[in-house]
Amino acid sequence: MMASFGYLSLFLLPFCLFLTFSSAADPFAFFDFEVSYITASPLGVPQQVIAINGEFPGPTVNVTTNNNVVINVRNKLDESMLMHWSGVQQRRSSWQDGVPGTNCPIPPKWNWTYQFQVKDQIGSFFYFPSLHFQRASGGFGGIIINNRDVIPIPFSTPDGDITILMGDWYTRNHTALRKSLDDGKDLGMPHGVLINGKGPYRYNDTLVPDGIDHETIEVHPGKTYRIRVHNVGISTSLNFRIQNHNLLLAETEGSYTVQQNYTSLDIHVGQSYSFLVTMDQNASTDYYIVASARFVNESLWKRVTGVAILHYSNSKGKAAGPLPEAPKDEFDKTFSMNQARSIRWNVSASGARPNPQGSFRYGSINVTDVYVLKNKPPVSINGKMRTTLSGISFVNPSTPIRLADQFKLKGVYKLDFPTRPLTGPPKAETSVINGTYRGFMEVILQNNDTKMQSYHMNGYAFFVVGMDYGEWSENSRGTYNKWDGIARSTIQVYPGAWTAILVSLDNVGIWNIRTENLDSWYLGQETYVRVVNPEATNKTELPMPDNALFCGQLGKLQKPQDISSATSITGDRLKMLFTLLMIISTVICALQ
Ligand SMILES: *[C@@H]1O[C@H](CO)[C@@H](O)[C@H](O)[C@H]1NC(C)=O
Ligand SMILES: *[C@@H]1O[C@H](CO)[C@@H](O)[C@H](O)[C@H]1NC(C)=O
Ligand SMILES: *[C@@H]1O[C@H](CO)[C@@H](O)[C@H](O)[C@H]1NC(C)=O
Ligand SMILES: *[C@@H]1O[C@H](CO)[C@@H](O)[C@H](O)[C@H]1NC(C)=O
Ligand SMILES: *[C@@H]1O[C@H](CO)[C@@H](O)[C@H](O)[C@H]1NC(C)=O
Ligand SMILES: *[C@@H]1O[C@H](CO)[C@@H](O)[C@H](O)[C@H]1NC(C)=O
Ligand SMILES: *[C@@H]1O[C@H](CO)[C@@H](O)[C@H](O)[C@H]1NC(C)=O
Ligand SMILES: *[C@@H]1O[C@H](CO)[C@@H](O)[C@H](O)[C@H]1NC(C)=O
Ligand SMILES: *[C@@H]1O[C@H](CO)[C@@H](O)[C@H](O)[C@H]1NC(C)=O
Ligand SMILES: *[C@@H]1O[C@H](CO)[C@@H](O)[C@H](O)[C@H]1NC(C)=O
Ligand SMILES: *[C@@H]1O[C@H](CO)[C@@H](O)[C@H](O)[C@H]1NC(C)=O
Ligand SMILES: *[C@@H]1O[C@H](CO)[C@@H](O)[C@H](O)[C@H]1NC(C)=O
Repeated sequence: MMASFGYLSLFLLPFCLFLTFSSAADPFAFFDFEVSYITASPLGVPQQVIAINGEFPGPTVNVTTNNNVVINVRNKLDESMLMHWSGVQQRRSSWQDGVPGTNCPIPPKWNWTYQFQVKDQIGSFFYFPSLHFQRASGGFGGIIINNRDVIPIPFSTPDGDITILMGDWYTRNHTALRKSLDDGKDLGMPHGVLINGKGPYRYNDTLVPDGIDHETIEVHPGKTYRIRVHNVGISTSLNFRIQNHNLLLAETEGSYTVQQNYTSLDIHVGQSYSFLVTMDQNASTDYYIVASARFVNESLWKRVTGVAILHYSNSKGKAAGPLPEAPKDEFDKTFSMNQARSIRWNVSASGARPNPQGSFRYGSINVTDVYVLKNKPPVSINGKMRTTLSGISFVNPSTPIRLADQFKLKGVYKLDFPTRPLTGPPKAETSVINGTYRGFMEVILQNNDTKMQSYHMNGYAFFVVGMDYGEWSENSRGTYNKWDGIARSTIQVYPGAWTAILVSLDNVGIWNIRTENLDSWYLGQETYVRVVNPEATNKTELPMPDNALFCGQLGKLQKPQDISSATSITGDRLKMLFTLLMIISTVICALQ
């Protein structure tokens, strides 16, 4: 019996290895993403936007904890790209993370298949193209990771699940915006805010021109919906609100929150929230859904407002009159920060696993490494406008850091990112944080700019333990929340203020830490954390995938892709083939 499988099992060896990592019992979810330009006029001006399978925004990736997700991304743009799965933790596999520090770009006309397991996660996330400022032209979509049936959720099953992708928007495309930044110019005020790829409802004839398509969310009276709201924009913080409706906050970026009602919530670039919204109004009219620019001169920024419509199935008329007001806090800079501090972790709710979330007592773990990361307004380095983190403007190496490690290449990057901001003149370098595997890192994000910043870390969720105005000091630790600080992956840092996070470095790989504000990111406000298990084992990181792309110093290893044959297998046939292979290999791996 075994002998007859001999040849086949040799062929399937890499598969068996893969299966021991990903558990064959866990189901697969397949997606085909064709990334291309389409013409759309969200603000009434025709422009090229990035669509997925012809849709703008792209389709929602709806999967369940432990699913093996296979997404074949075909690049039909005129430039290289990578898809990043923001908030998806990519346990043991920065190979699939889709940022230039870990993966080579997918050249135009090529395709590349991402394969990862959404391990031990639930919640609301989104994907977006991470290179060349492409997010400013679209290419984004929602990601839902559902709980397994055996894991209860801390609220009754909602009657519907609605994704809202909102963000500031320019009628100039990403190449034009990129050029402005390369020329040392600020992007200026956005032209509007889109909600699900659409412009504002015409709530005011002067402010909104005729002929703009708006988003309508259809609901039934008395029902409760889970509304997942993501800020996928470039750099504008948005205040989100629904006229006459309470937003019961339930989840953010993979953690269940203590459930509290808000009339509006500030959602910063890159952040995701789930609200439970009950349709408890009398439907005498439709209701406005508003996303308005925050911390700006509102009389100048009136046009930078997204307006969609909440339409009850028994609605008696159109929404009319003024929009519900944003918080009036021009003279109270703590209002928004206090709101952020009020977002707490529900420590007794189960996340992805049966044990309650708070069973990991982060407050009693000793910190092993402390980093103060300080951002400043743009500076000039070698005659170019750049942004810095702790005095260093990150330069992406042509050979990804993870690949350089794999092939033991020297000199690609330096493992010398400073624990405190540099005081000398700013410099442009590929300087990376030396993470301590299984360490517990405290990171203080200090915003020395006059604009709001939000920071994101790949590969992890971190605990938000404190934020305040002024300069962080050792004494600030006295104010930390050591009990129910929320675990998430994107956090705001107010201008002239700091935010402190704690992160348990248990995920081996090379992980990006960056500002989510696209312009600051593009200009160098990021670095990576290198987390390596000093023990030689194959258990804590997945092997390099067979389809890894090569570039930079390793470019000679890359075989050309046969573009004509790549298109000959259709998605369905590929799925059948793959499933068959998985079944055969499961049997054989089990027999070995
Ligand atoms: C972007 O805009 C520029 C200038 O308006 C135009 O030349 C270019 O073709 C556009 N690019 C795409 C991909 O649409
Ligand atoms: C490209 O897509 C084809 C199917 O259309 C697939 O067989 C191939 O593995 C993909 N290439 C990569 C590098 O993922
Ligand atoms: C927290 O989660 C528990 C367990 O699911 C739930 O019973 C409780 O209502 C939640 N508490 C709050 C304040 O949201
Ligand atoms: C996601 O998929 C589940 C089934 O796995 C389904 O019950 C649910 O309605 C889907 N959600 C959305 C938003 O499509
Ligand atoms: C529309 O907006 C303009 C400009 O802000 C304002 O002057 C006008 O009063 C608004 N119209 C209505 C009907 O609210
Ligand atoms: C939130 O507001 C709704 C009414 O919209 C109310 O029924 C509910 O009790 C409130 N929940 C909390 C936790 O305050
Ligand atoms: C419906 O609710 C609105 C606002 O709460 C109120 O002004 C209006 O009178 C109500 N209409 C009816 C028919 O009850
Ligand atoms: C907002 O802009 C208007 C128009 O330029 C100006 O008159 C007003 O003083 C500004 N408000 C603030 C608070 O700066
Ligand atoms: C933390 O450090 C203190 C003293 O430095 C030590 O007593 C304590 O056992 C440590 N706690 C843990 C959980 O390692
Ligand atoms: C990185 O940190 C490890 C300990 O975690 C240390 O052994 C190593 O020397 C450090 N590397 C550099 C280049 O500082
Ligand atoms: C920036 O840092 C300098 C020096 O620490 C400080 O004087 C200034 O107030 C800071 N500005 C902001 C906006 O944080
Ligand atoms: C890890 O796997 C590689 C190839 O699969 C093998 O060459 C190496 O010996 C393994 N290392 C350990 C420590 O098991």
